[in-house]
Amino acid sequence: MELADKRILLGISGGIAAYKSAELVRRLKDQGADVRVVMTRSAKEFITPLTLQAVSGHPVADSLLDPAAEAGMGHIELAKWADLVLIAPASANLMARMAAGMGDELLTTLCLATPAPVALAPAMNQQMYRNPATQANLATLASRGILLWGPDSGSQACGDVGPGRMLDPLELVQRCALQLQGPQPLAGLHLLLTAGPTREALDPVRFISNHSSGKMGFALARAAAEMGARVTLVSGPVNLPTPTGVTRIDVESAQQMHDAVHAAVADSQIFIGCAAVADYRAAAISPQKIKKTADNEELVLTLVKNPDIIASVGALPNKPFTVGFAAETVDVEQYALGKLQRKRLDMIAANDVSRAGQGFNSDDNALTVFWPGGSQELPLADKLSIARHLLTLVVEHYQCDHRGRP
Ligand code: PMT
Repeated sequence: MELADKRILLGISGGIAAYKSAELVRRLKDQGADVRVVMTRSAKEFITPLTLQAVSGHPVADSLLDPAAEAGMGHIELAKWADLVLIAPASANLMARMAAGMGDELLTTLCLATPAPVALAPAMNQQMYRNPATQANLATLASRGILLWGPDSGSQACGDVGPGRMLDPLELVQRCALQLQGPQPLAGLHLLLTAGPTREALDPVRFISNHSSGKMGFALARAAAEMGARVTLVSGPVNLPTPTGVTRIDVESAQQMHDAVHAAVADSQIFIGCAAVADYRAAAISPQKIKKTADNEELVLTLVKNPDIIASVGALPNKPFTVGFAAETVDVEQYALGKLQRKRLDMIAANDVSRAGQGFNSDDNALTVFWPGGSQELPLADKLSIARHLLTLVVEHYQCDHRGRP
């Protein structure tokens, strides 16, 4: 019950994603929240107030000038009642009105009158989302402290593909829980992490790499930012958007990743090495494309060891709280514990990458987390949930660590 006794005012504006709002109310209530719904005029074209009244257990408010509603919980009272105002879906039109500071109907007036944080879950056609007017409105709202949750990218009701999908109701529930959980446990800390693969060039067109997608590391970066950390993400080549509020440094090779980490590590309190770093690189990169020849059936490449980035962080005199990952296919515990000790880590998260549906390039993962004298299983879940769980352990151990600087 992550939202027990929390009061959430759910605003619904006009868009096809409004059909998900009833599900959102149910999921918020599952977590113990008291939910009251306010709809704009156009929202009622997509979903009926009766549906939302049935799922929320309260009458739905939709009019600023309704004497009966004002005699009950008036609009100022409603604005003061909320611990959080969440508008999902938030249409381009609603955001434009909010950016202009308008109070032209009940929902926009409540946004002006509430002392509570206001979060928007934008949902619209991808071209409308990309429109400079919408982007300028979003920037204005963000600069006033309005929280922007999403949008997601993908296929849309109109057949287009791109950014503009409302975040999944369960994801929005998690965002509400994080927002309302009180002080952010990583506030004031700089968290540096690596993600994705490295690429080790052989010649101008070929390289050695691995199957890391960056999903685990990017989920950690996002979760850490949500928990209040200043996050620097050093990423190998991946095809993922940068999480909100995260500073991203793109690199290709292990040597570049090593240099980027050491340029940022001095003022970091927590370092997480989630990247799948290539252990070896070519002794010499051929300046020209390596050619196949008629008489050679074999090609011998000479490889040399790359720097071990996390071990070099672990060896620093004032090292940050250092968390490694171990991707193993056999004897997971034994190898993970060996790395914990050898690389002078404070914690290591081991994934069994021999199992289907977890580890490299999947959306889910399962970890066994080890620290000196203890361990904990994080069962199979989506990578964002795993990231949040792992960071909760990191916070606990960082705080217990006598080197922890507040
Ligand atoms: O990116 P995804 O597709 O989401 O997949 C996630 C993941 C499986 C890549 C991730 O969960 C993971 O396990 N990352 C570490 C993979 C790995 O290469 O482990 P390793 O056992 O080789 O390395 C152990 C630790 O040393 C790691 O923290 C690694 O970042 C670090 N290391 C390794 C070699 C090196 N030269 N420098 C390093 O810093």
